[in-house]
This record gives sequence, C-alpha cells and structure tokens, in this order.
Amino acid sequence: MMTTTLFDIHLSPESRLDSVDLNNPVFGSVFSDHQFRMDFADGRWSAGAIEPYGDLVMSPAAMVLHYGQAIFEGMKVFRQPDGEVALFRPMENIRRFNESAERMCMPSVDEGLFLSALTELVKTDKNWVPDGNESSLYVRPFMFASEAHVGVKPSANYRFMIFSCPVGAYYKGNVKVKVETAFTRAAPGGTGYAKAAGNYAASLKPTAMAREQGYDQILWTDAVEHKYIEESGTMNVMFVMDGKLVSPSLGDTVLAGVTRDSVLRLAAQKGMEIEERKVPVAELKAAAESGALTEAFGVGTAATMTAIETIGFASGDRDLPPVEGWRWMPDLAKSLDDIRRGRGEDIFGWRVVL
Ligand SMILES: Cc1ncc(COP(=O)(O)O)c(C=O)c1O
Repeated sequence: MMTTTLFDIHLSPESRLDSVDLNNPVFGSVFSDHQFRMDFADGRWSAGAIEPYGDLVMSPAAMVLHYGQAIFEGMKVFRQPDGEVALFRPMENIRRFNESAERMCMPSVDEGLFLSALTELVKTDKNWVPDGNESSLYVRPFMFASEAHVGVKPSANYRFMIFSCPVGAYYKGNVKVKVETAFTRAAPGGTGYAKAAGNYAASLKPTAMAREQGYDQILWTDAVEHKYIEESGTMNVMFVMDGKLVSPSLGDTVLAGVTRDSVLRLAAQKGMEIEERKVPVAELKAAAESGALTEAFGVGTAATMTAIETIGFASGDRDLPPVEGWRWMPDLAKSLDDIRRGRGEDIFGWRVVL
C-alpha cells in the first residue's frame, strides 16, 4: 500500500510485531517494521520515503566502506500514560547531527524536514513503542558516503536513513570503569565532539582490553596528558564531590550529550551547586579515598543514568559508597524519567508528543 503525506510511505505488507516480545526487548537487535531513506546527489537531497525495514544494496566501492565518512544519532521515544508517544528533545539531536555532518564534510539535513521524517516514521511504527518502565523505542538516524569511488575526498553522494528498535535497559545494574591512560578517544582538533562512526571503531580495542581486566567501560582521559577525565563509553560523566555536581567541561574532545544538559538543568532546578570544569584524575582519586566523592554516574540516551560502583585507577580500584544510600542520582534519574514518560510536569518543554 502506498499513501502520500510529506513523503511517500510504502507500508510493509505485514508487521513483524507479533513475533517480538515487547515486554523484554534486547537492546539493539530487534528492528521495527519501517525505515526512512533519502539520497543526496548532484548537490541536493531527493524526496525521502518511508519503506519496509530491509537490507541495502550498495557498491563495494561505496566510500563509507573505505574512508569512514559516516555519522549517526541516538534518541528515544517514550510511551505516555494516555497511550500517546513522545520524543525527548529531538531538536537537540537534529542540531548535533548537522554539526557532526559539518565536521565530516557531509551535507546538512534541513531541520524541519528531519523532524518530519522522524515523526512520520515513529507514527508509522507507533505500536512498536514499548511501555515497560525501562523500555522505549530507540531511534537511529544516520548518514553515510555512498559514492562509488576509490581515492580520498568528500563523497559526492550520501544516504540519510532512520530506523528504530524497541529497547530495554542498556546496562543491567551498576558499572565498573577503568581510567584509561594509554589509549585516546579524541584529540584536540579531532572529531570527538561529532558523532562520527570512526570514533566508536577506535574505542573498541581499549574497551575490549578493559573488559578483559574486569571493567564494564572506560573512563577516557585527555589525549595530551591523560590527566583529566573526559567521558565514558557512550556516556558523559558526573560526580558528586563535597555535595556539588561536577562534570567535565565540554570542548572539541567531548560529545555534548543531551542527557548531560538535561541532568545539569534538572540539578540546578533542584538547587544543586554545579561545576562544569576540568576534572583531574588526581582529584577524583583523592576524593574517592577521602570520602568526598559520594556518587559517580554516566549519563547518556542509551543507558540514561548508570551508577558507577568502582573506579579503576593506575594504583588500584576505589569503590564508591553503596548506591542505595546515594542522595542525588536516584532523584535526578526519577525526575528525568518522569518528564520523558509523561508522569511529571514538563517544566522545560522537552517532550514532543506525536
Ligand atoms: C561519546 C558519547 N558521549 C556521550 C553521549 C551521551 O549523549 P546523549 O545524552 O545525547 O545520548 C553519547 C551518546 O550519544 C556518546 O556517544
């Protein structure tokens, strides 16, 4: 069946929803019925379309496969108490996508068109939004270089796509993180602030090594001296030290997280003192030893807020106090979740109900 709204919509002849356990979705391996697709050629985007989710046909010479010109975003849709569904701060992701595109020499996508594609796609697969307490529909917009060409240069052609997956919790429980002082995620002047695919490829080996050592994730430090904390995996990080909420400042080596910004604004609204600044590894270690460090957590769309129970320093592991006694993180996590799931007042205007 084909209907026409803003985009052509080719509906899947039958839904796969019946074969999926929406009460128990595994993160990232089940995909909803439809995807959005739009191509860039001759200096402009063609009309986009919603179509059944499916494999792509591409040239082995597609430039993304060789030179890695690819960017992506990650955002979530939440089921509301009245059965409606809502996106959370989608314009932040759309703007960040275009900043990533600019850094990677890729064309931007018109913000209004991007939002329409997103909302049409989510509405088409609305039944795929789970309603469990830790569940949501994870939406993945991305763009890659599709020109068939050998030789390093910006591609002439691109494909922009969006698909979605019903997901449950990213981490089951708290995490142990290792302060990384040998490998680097992002260097000044590099692509750390962009959601460029290559950043994630480069993180795989050090993360695998940390896992072999018994950690769940890496706490990245700066590329120059390895003396300052930057972020962790696909999360920004926050610490409660001496009762203040401390988070590494943004710059071109850190991804400016939507969750980070949301948590900082919620914390300020709750009267917390906030410091966005350089966080020396030495200070964190001293605070962990003296007891001044009372909470540490990662914040990001996929994992939302994840408590850090142990930090691995070069001199050994330091445990945080038991999460059950934490004053701030559970409260911030609840407030954020209440807004996203429509259970609390949307004081900042973050929900976009479809
Ligand atoms: C490297 C990195 N840092 C931080 C984040 C958290 O950003 P957000 O809260 O927008 O998901 C992400 C996830 O997008 C990420 O990939």
